Amino acid sequence: MKVKERLFTPGPVPLPPEVIKALGQQIIHHRTPEFTKAFMEVREKLKRLLKTERAPVMFASSGTGSMEAAVTNFFRRGDRVLVINAGKFGQRWRDLAKTFELKVVDYEIEWGKTYDRERILEIIGEFPDIKGILVQHSETSTTTLHDVNYLAEVCKKLDDCILVVDGITSIGVYEVYPEEIGIDVLVTGSQKALMLPPGLSILWFSEKAEERLEKSDIGKYYFSVLSEVKKQEKGQTAYTPAINLILALNESLNLILEEGLPQLARRHEVMAKATREALKEIGLKLLSESPANSATGAYAPAGIDADEFRKVLLKLGFRVAGGQDHLKGKIFRIAHMGYFDVMDIVQVIAGVEFALEKIGYTVEIGKGVRKAQEIVLEYI
Ligand SMILES: Cc1ncc(COP(=O)(O)O)c(C=O)c1O
Repeated sequence: MKVKERLFTPGPVPLPPEVIKALGQQIIHHRTPEFTKAFMEVREKLKRLLKTERAPVMFASSGTGSMEAAVTNFFRRGDRVLVINAGKFGQRWRDLAKTFELKVVDYEIEWGKTYDRERILEIIGEFPDIKGILVQHSETSTTTLHDVNYLAEVCKKLDDCILVVDGITSIGVYEVYPEEIGIDVLVTGSQKALMLPPGLSILWFSEKAEERLEKSDIGKYYFSVLSEVKKQEKGQTAYTPAINLILALNESLNLILEEGLPQLARRHEVMAKATREALKEIGLKLLSESPANSATGAYAPAGIDADEFRKVLLKLGFRVAGGQDHLKGKIFRIAHMGYFDVMDIVQVIAGVEFALEKIGYTVEIGKGVRKAQEIVLEYI
């Protein structure tokens, strides 16, 4: 038999059976009452997910589409923005902002670290005209969590600043309630903790951000939030929507809301802690100093190429992600967001132990697994 492949990459992630079933249906037409009904249901469920009365807009695009929409719809050319640039996706905020002619204060941070509060205060002292702070809640490339609550406080102190958060690997992992936190624009994508294939992105915005929509002078066509809002309020989209993904989102949101956000957040916390503690027990060094609950990154042992190690792991049936840019060949990343449970973690840690042993790094087999089990026991 072919080896059974288990997907532990930070997007796409495995799909629950309910989602697979919805995706397997014959397509329906989108200009129909049937589609509108499902679309309106999704809007209501997204409001519950984000604990707000304001429904987000959806685009048929990968997550980057909504990141681009965040930049082009809520700013004016020449606006100054602060970018928290601590990894591949922080770079994407910077590049998008530059592409659309914003003035970027690029706060570059060593990969694996989060921002320093003092430095943030220095920057806003130097540039009090900052019109937006752009950040990843969970920086997937380095598996790092950035505290968005503090940035919301900082933003409020400025004259006219909005907090723009990439929640692509934090929504569905944490309780992310933008109005409680003070987030103005929040984006996510389908192929992460929303447990769908790629192709759908979601953008939420606050009342404060809404005031900027009419004023923005940056060119946009497909990613016009104003055109979408007008249509989506009525259960339609300006262009052909990702019909099947929206129908499947209706199912995955049922799963999320039935579990409840506090329990969902707790499950992710347990899985993340079990993964981190088990890897440390095996003797590996974690990548992040501020680890997120969506995925865990760790360095391969000295002298071992992380990508060679991943190949061995794949032969055993575990597909995990590698490092990007200068971390390529140095680290590996294990996802635990969405359709995962604690037993998946126990299993992947067993795989890591086998693979390490096979590649020539001696581990006490079972040591990491035992640690993961101990962590899980603390919670059940
Ligand atoms: C934090 C974060 N931001 C942005 C993206 C880009 O999303 P997409 O590849 O869907 O455009 C990703 C994808 O991995 C991500 O993890």
